[in-house]
Amino acid sequence: MPKLSVIGAGTMGTGIAQVAATAGWDVVINDTNQEILEKSSASLVKVMNRLVEKEKIDQATADKILGRIDFTDDQQYFEDSDLVIEAIVENIDIKRKVFAAVEKIVREDTIIASNTSSLSLASIGASLENSSRFVGIHFFNPAPLMPLVEIIPAVQTADETTKQAKEWVDSWKKLTVLAKDTPGFIVNRVARPFYGESLRMYEEGIADFATIDWAMKELGGFRMGPFELMDFIGNDINYTVTETVFQSFFYDPRYRPSFTQKRMSEAGFLGRKSGRGYYNYAEGATKPEPAKDEVLGNKILNRALVMLINEAADALFLNIASREDIDTAMTKGVNYPKGLLKWADEKGINWCVEKLDALYEEYREDRYRCSPLLRRMNKENQRFYS
Ligand code: NAI
Repeated sequence: MPKLSVIGAGTMGTGIAQVAATAGWDVVINDTNQEILEKSSASLVKVMNRLVEKEKIDQATADKILGRIDFTDDQQYFEDSDLVIEAIVENIDIKRKVFAAVEKIVREDTIIASNTSSLSLASIGASLENSSRFVGIHFFNPAPLMPLVEIIPAVQTADETTKQAKEWVDSWKKLTVLAKDTPGFIVNRVARPFYGESLRMYEEGIADFATIDWAMKELGGFRMGPFELMDFIGNDINYTVTETVFQSFFYDPRYRPSFTQKRMSEAGFLGRKSGRGYYNYAEGATKPEPAKDEVLGNKILNRALVMLINEAADALFLNIASREDIDTAMTKGVNYPKGLLKWADEKGINWCVEKLDALYEEYREDRYRCSPLLRRMNKENQRFYS
């Protein structure tokens, strides 16, 4: 079995170590902070105990998995690794320093990867002497539970590196999709309107949080409403992702963040973790009732949905990923009830174009511009899937 080294024993590093060790790999987890290493080790013991209690695995298997993971603050133990995955703080300067140091320790054929969510892989890869061995391997939180992993080659990445990284992650029983090194990769790009358009509808006074959440869940089949989900992720984190994507796209108005969310974040209304967000999570607090009006609900759902479809279509138009990978990413990375391109076929490409053009006509904002791909497909009477 090949050997993995993980840099950063936080939430993501610990989860990634569990995934690889469960698949039989020997893993070294490294962190500069001894306390975090102890916390990571204790949390893995707890997870394994829970899996044994639930009879998902037996005690012997749990012991074997834990026995495969070593915790260290010394990166010298990376020496004989086949793959290194970095999951440290999202700071380009710190990452660059760490990569330059790690490259001096590992073998020449070791593949070096970053789990970054928002930095450009080309810029991180540039810190390596041999950047052809560098690739993005982007897990979703919690890594052991979320099936999707985005594999992102940088411009410098060799094809064999991408192929080998994908093969290894597939062997960990994850579903991999290939994405271009562009802001948000697939999921964090295509999902923006789920939050952004819902916030916009709220700001326009079309409906309150509870009604928008109700429409997306009851009529759309989404597992969580956008406001519930933002409260779950944390308004600070979700706002930062939106702002980073917006800046990285050279301020394309389609990704413009919302003042509502910025103010929530500034006020410390972060969501579940702070006890209050769009909803109040204090004990005894009652959840507001939605206005269960189907006409209004469908208006809300269709507006958010067509914006999501437009984003997915544009990602395909710009070759960010394949049709299948875009649909897999959204169903397996964020649990959407259907792939967005499949959904577009069901609604009709003509419906999508008309709806987007009506929004554009009404608002005269670039945000509502229809993807050239949808327009072309509509003219030629095509579908995404035959
Ligand atoms: P975290 O804050 O839980 O963990 C980061 C860890 O890195 C900390 O334990 C810290 O002590 C350690 N660290 C910092 N500098 C280090 C160094 N020089 N050497 C070794 N260890 C060092 O962060 P989290 O949430 O696990 O995120 C890590 C990375 O994963 C970030 O790049 C983030 O963008 C990415 N990511 C995070 C997701 C999430 O939902 N939390 C999802 C997907 C990717």
